[in-house]
Amino acid sequence: MGARVLLVGQGGREHATAWKLLQSPRVEHVFVAPGNSGTALIATNLPPRTTDIEGIVAAAKQHRIDFYLACSDDPQPLGLVDRLQAEGILCYGPSAAAARIEANKSWAKGFMSRHRIPTADGRAFDDYAAACTYLESLPPGKLWVKASGLAAGKGAVGCETRSEALSAIKEMLVDHQFGTSSDTIVIERDMPGWETSCHAFCDGKTAVLWPFSTDYKRSLDGGEGLNTGGMGAYSPSAGISDTLIGDIRRLVVDPVIAGMAAEGHPYNGTLYPGIMVTAEGPKIVEYNARQGDPESQVLLPRLKSDLYEVTRAAARGGLASMEVRWSSRPSVGIVVASRGYPESFETGFTIRGLDAIDRDVLVFHAGMKSAGGGFVTSGGRVCTVVAMGDTMEEARAIAYDNARRITFENAYYRTDIALEAV
Ligand code: GLY
Repeated sequence: MGARVLLVGQGGREHATAWKLLQSPRVEHVFVAPGNSGTALIATNLPPRTTDIEGIVAAAKQHRIDFYLACSDDPQPLGLVDRLQAEGILCYGPSAAAARIEANKSWAKGFMSRHRIPTADGRAFDDYAAACTYLESLPPGKLWVKASGLAAGKGAVGCETRSEALSAIKEMLVDHQFGTSSDTIVIERDMPGWETSCHAFCDGKTAVLWPFSTDYKRSLDGGEGLNTGGMGAYSPSAGISDTLIGDIRRLVVDPVIAGMAAEGHPYNGTLYPGIMVTAEGPKIVEYNARQGDPESQVLLPRLKSDLYEVTRAAARGGLASMEVRWSSRPSVGIVVASRGYPESFETGFTIRGLDAIDRDVLVFHAGMKSAGGGFVTSGGRVCTVVAMGDTMEEARAIAYDNARRITFENAYYRTDIALEAV
């Protein structure tokens, strides 16, 4: 009997993870709660939403799940791993205490300070007057005001001026823009540099780095427009050298593994440190206790090893004995989105062109749903079109050639994904 594996989430990341897991001869079936139209094609979608912990636990028992792989952000801070483990289900993912590294940025700031992990100068506040006084004390320059809790990727506001920062502080602390997620905020100085997404398999004692990837967070070409969940990605990141990888491991990956273990909540699961490479070396923008989206869509196709075997070994603390192999071929992913995203947008438009996609190009569904024998749009990020190539230039050309074939009313995508890397 093969394994019955559970994922929680509903984006392109979960579709890509289910797709990769199903390549394992040891996986019998993948279940996704709640999943999307793409996971429905290859796996079984289950009804519970990502924050319905008791519903997910009940569904896991009903469907005799024997392995949970955490890839999305919502359920771990609510204790899903702790609850599933109490039911005897093997889990690869952080406990609620370990997931604070992402879900409680104020706690994470303290953790980084205790373990001397390089990050932006900044402080946490839950008092509006104290936050304003701190703001007044800072020299001029760009700042970030961040909700301490999870905010669907929209909780970090870049502020060029003091009045922008004041508005962001008021919206979060006084107007509760992100509900309880912004009851505490973190105010940080900007760190000039370039960003890269690091991912690592972690088993509480050991971290095995994935290749690096670059995510495009702004909605429009050239880094214009609003912050989104991510409009495209490519891997490997331009500018990554062996020296830099060594520095990243030494300065921001190994200390988090050692520090979490020393504080009594070892980190098990995929860790995704968002990194700014500055003139003084790599510094943490934020730790994420999950896989990135759309980074997963470009990274998992490059994984040659069996994702189930690797994560199952990590869940049991046995990562050190695993050899994790990756393809050297670059990959590029283009997010096709609904115009208006990340603000308001219309849905329900018929999606055409999916049958015209090249055989070796991947389309991971996100804001799509089945309708009338086909698919219609149901969200902001509709799908990610992913291609690999012998060179980045080739991967990029194939990805764009195929993304163009997917059409629906109000479709848009950035045209500069991976441009810096060709
Ligand atoms: N692509 C950014 C994220 O997953 O948070």
